[in-house]
Amino acid sequence: MARADLLYDLIKYGLNNDNPNFRKVAEAICAEERAKQHGVLANKVEELLRIQNRPLMRDISQPSVRNGEQSLFIEKIPARKLEQLLLPQSVVDSCRDLIEEQSRADLLRSHGLEPRNKVLLVGPPGNGKTSLAEAIAEALMLPLLTVKYESIVGAYLGETATRLGKLFDYAKTRQCVLFFDEFETLGKERGDTHETGEIKRVVSSLLLQIDSLPSYVIVIAATNHDALLDRAAWRRFQLRLSLPKPSRRDLELWFAQFESRVGFDFGLEPSTLAKKFLGKSYAEAEEFALSVYRKYVLKLPDGNAKSITQTELSLYLTSAQGNIDKGQEEGVE
Ligand SMILES: Nc1ncnc2c1ncn2[C@@H]1O[C@H](COP(=O)(O)OP(=O)(O)O)[C@@H](O)[C@H]1O
Ligand SMILES: [Mg+2]
Repeated sequence: MARADLLYDLIKYGLNNDNPNFRKVAEAICAEERAKQHGVLANKVEELLRIQNRPLMRDISQPSVRNGEQSLFIEKIPARKLEQLLLPQSVVDSCRDLIEEQSRADLLRSHGLEPRNKVLLVGPPGNGKTSLAEAIAEALMLPLLTVKYESIVGAYLGETATRLGKLFDYAKTRQCVLFFDEFETLGKERGDTHETGEIKRVVSSLLLQIDSLPSYVIVIAATNHDALLDRAAWRRFQLRLSLPKPSRRDLELWFAQFESRVGFDFGLEPSTLAKKFLGKSYAEAEEFALSVYRKYVLKLPDGNAKSITQTELSLYLTSAQGNIDKGQEEGVE
């Protein structure tokens, strides 16, 4: 039986979520048991400590446990794959390079080199920035940690800096992809009453933190427009990838791929659909495709794909007209 004071400490540190001290005491108990020739128990405890060797997972990822704050990020096991996205070839090539550098980091380090780890994704909404961040994490087999600005940015700059510090301290304890989605909204969390000077300071303190990240933490920032980022900020990212709206050819390919993936025929040529959707995003094409397919399935067994597609198309394009510029209405008849 372990010593009473060690048992007491173990319970205390466990209840406080004090992971480092908890482990220290557990190791002391283990050593004590071994000294008492209780090898089986000692081995079992050691094995537990070895497989549970996840650094400070609960302590910092859930600050609510400690100080009543919300979690600073959302953790996700990535599912989306790079091959599922239609991207410019140069973007695919760059991502593959990054994935190889990260996967073979040991070799690079043995030659005094570091893999790249800072990526900026720029492009209009709905063309794959969030999806690509997830796909990169998936290819690297790492968790995706999406930062929650609302729980980072506080009323005072000092508060924000502390929380940012906490976030980065945590990220450094493990290999992961740290994702700043919709980077341009970061400043907005502070509301209109605050001076832009303060927002700039939040962003610059964030950029400083990004600079000091070890290369095994991959940081990805996504933004709709690069106007927010000055040249100095832009330069900090080693990979700057642009995800533009799809061309007519891209859309044609996307509609054709949708048909083969789902096993469904729109009744109109992919090239015809692509013409109608020119100027729109992949997300809009997908929304349309899914709504047609949904209607078709509900009308089975005698759904007429072509007439459903045509009806949805005119509905979709009429309702979309209200939201788009004159210049984007070209495909509408
Ligand atoms: N390049 C792309 N290739 C295939 N599908 C895409 C692409 N971009 C976006 N989509 C589809 O549109 C949806 C929204 O895209 P998202 O990645 O959230 O765009 P963003 O973050 O740029 O606004 C995704 O779930 C995906 O299914
Ligand atoms: Mg997004």
